[in-house]
Amino acid sequence: MKIDIITCQPDLLTSPFSHSILKRAQEKSLLDLNIYDLRTFGLNNYGQIDDYAYGGGAGMVLRCEPLHAILTQITQNTQNYQVIYLTPDGETLTQKRSNALSLESHLILICGHYKGIDQRIRDLWVDLEISIGDYVLTGGELAAAVLVDSVLRLVPGVISDETSALTDSFQDDLLAPPVYTRPLEFEGKIVPDVLLSGHEKKIEEWRFEQSIERTKKLRPDLYQKWERGNG
Ligand code: 6GU
Repeated sequence: MKIDIITCQPDLLTSPFSHSILKRAQEKSLLDLNIYDLRTFGLNNYGQIDDYAYGGGAGMVLRCEPLHAILTQITQNTQNYQVIYLTPDGETLTQKRSNALSLESHLILICGHYKGIDQRIRDLWVDLEISIGDYVLTGGELAAAVLVDSVLRLVPGVISDETSALTDSFQDDLLAPPVYTRPLEFEGKIVPDVLLSGHEKKIEEWRFEQSIERTKKLRPDLYQKWERGNG
């Protein structure tokens, strides 16, 4: 998968992509990642990328020209791409959306800053607007890293055991069951017997019940959704 990220703070993205699975995905050529610094496409001698908002109000707005120039360059020899703008007023990211995006071949992510980007870039270029939750971050970079992590781990070969992605929390609208490893006893607490039974079917049933109980208790909204789909 090819992913281009447009940002005015490229430093914020170096760390998330130089570790663990995102690093390995690049080494295995499962991810072709390019980070574009908006400032290198800035206007005039100052490399200007933002300006005051028409109509007034606090906060700067990212101008059209630098974004348009980068997007034109990135897309000049390709047709099959999705332009995603990371913004708190976008659609909330869900596992379902990550699943769908993992099938795409080329994502172009625009990280917003300040008061956001000029509406005309949204109108002209953006296919999808995504938020990672109902809270405000200073910029879209961390949200972009979250999006890429959640999408990429669904691309075959990126994580070693693909089945582990299929049994994640949310994959079927239920939270994951509790897990245990050694030691058998810790601070007086022991591992549930059933997990030591070697009885595969019983273990599976126990995990399923635990998933249901956890979801009911912690995420009644998800539980209702699951019940509707499985009732
Ligand atoms: Cl995508 N951007 C910003 N700036 N804040 C957010 C967000 C995105 N998602 C949640 N909060």
